[in-house]
Amino acid sequence: MTPSIASHPSVTDSTLRPYAGRRVLLGVSGGIASYKSAWLARLLAKAGAEVDVVMTRAAMEFVGAVTFEALTGRPVHTGLFDAGRTLDHIRLAKAADCIVIAPATADLMARAATGQADDLLTAVLLAAGCPVLFVPAMNDRMWAHAQTRANAAHLAALGYALLPPDDGLLAAGEGSGPGRMPEPEAIFAHVGRLLEPASPLAGTRVTVTAGPTQEALDPVRFLSNHSTGKMGVAIAAAAWRRGAHVTLVAGPLQVSLPAGLTVVNVRTTEEMRDAVAAQLPTSDLLVMAAAPADYQPSARAEGKLKKTGQPRTLELHETPDILLTTLAARKPGSVCVGFALETDDLLANATRKLERKALDLVVLNDANEPGAGFGVDTNRVTFLTRQGTEPEVLPLMPKSAVADAILDRAEALLMQPGRVAQREPANGR
Ligand code: CTP
Repeated sequence: MTPSIASHPSVTDSTLRPYAGRRVLLGVSGGIASYKSAWLARLLAKAGAEVDVVMTRAAMEFVGAVTFEALTGRPVHTGLFDAGRTLDHIRLAKAADCIVIAPATADLMARAATGQADDLLTAVLLAAGCPVLFVPAMNDRMWAHAQTRANAAHLAALGYALLPPDDGLLAAGEGSGPGRMPEPEAIFAHVGRLLEPASPLAGTRVTVTAGPTQEALDPVRFLSNHSTGKMGVAIAAAAWRRGAHVTLVAGPLQVSLPAGLTVVNVRTTEEMRDAVAAQLPTSDLLVMAAAPADYQPSARAEGKLKKTGQPRTLELHETPDILLTTLAARKPGSVCVGFALETDDLLANATRKLERKALDLVVLNDANEPGAGFGVDTNRVTFLTRQGTEPEVLPLMPKSAVADAILDRAEALLMQPGRVAQREPANGR
């Protein structure tokens, strides 16, 4: 079989889905957390979004407009009645694909909840038709106040999304408690969720496995592989962004976890098998991106194996194949995506895995390909399906873009007649 070369745009950081080319209005109100909003503006601009910053008068007591102008490369908007810009609130509201207010102070929330429009930011809110995310940040006592809670509940009832504050260190001398603004990376992820187009994955249950597993030899040593979990975590993050309820079954990872996932930590292949088996009956989509250890020592030494000066022979036996041994647990009509990491006879081996493991889609990796596979941020993959179509060869892409390409295929498979993806309301979309 000669793979056909499908054309895909090359994806760089500045063309990151779903931010690239989208207009995000960042509203900044006057709280100390506004110093973190500068980093949020940076993340959004770096991902290719056009960021319009609107600052309240109080926000300008904390951070300068120049900071945001330098980070976004665009003018910052501050006044409702600036000369020649009296219709800015309408223009900005119409142009925005999404609005994020971070930090949203108690005062801003109160004014928004009661429909006031006495400054540019609140006037924009009344004129807006796009999704809006409030990111409250304030002192824990102010956050706990019944009035603030009532305002938050009312904003939610009006259809606004709310990302609740973290429990952590507050302003200097104020100790810690609930009120701290979530980190910019988490807010950035939630903005991505609002920007994502409506997806067939919204409300479905998705299970993704990631990382290696470890098989103990003795109390201090184990057998494993070079997997870091980057590819699986990118897939889980992208599925969450599309509105799915995502469970990540994670071996020991070397990457940080993104927002929104339910994480089941496992160490051995048998533990991963059990965790996957528990999820499968309710999963509409399984993506087996993990690299489970294929062998375990036939005996695990109770004490540390001491050096003897002699060669040591290890007897290994195979661990269970997770995809094969959990076949019967799969939800009828669900979609199952596996990976194939190969060094030889790539297409033939991947096709065998597609059939033997009853997969709907195989993502083939060449283990010898530079810039692809374990540890790196990019991957070059080929897709094989059971529909007898030509394998689809993708170019070298960031793993985040590969994740989206995999989910695009999985969505198409889920939409086939006879598939019964059950949807629950998506959280926060
Ligand atoms: N996999 C699995 N259980 C294992 C090992 C692998 O379910 N014990 C899954 C992987 O997550 C992947 C697919 O099976 O989705 C193929 O994994 P791969 O390592 O390429 O192949 P193996 O099945 O382990 O076969 P071989 O080592 O002979 O290539």
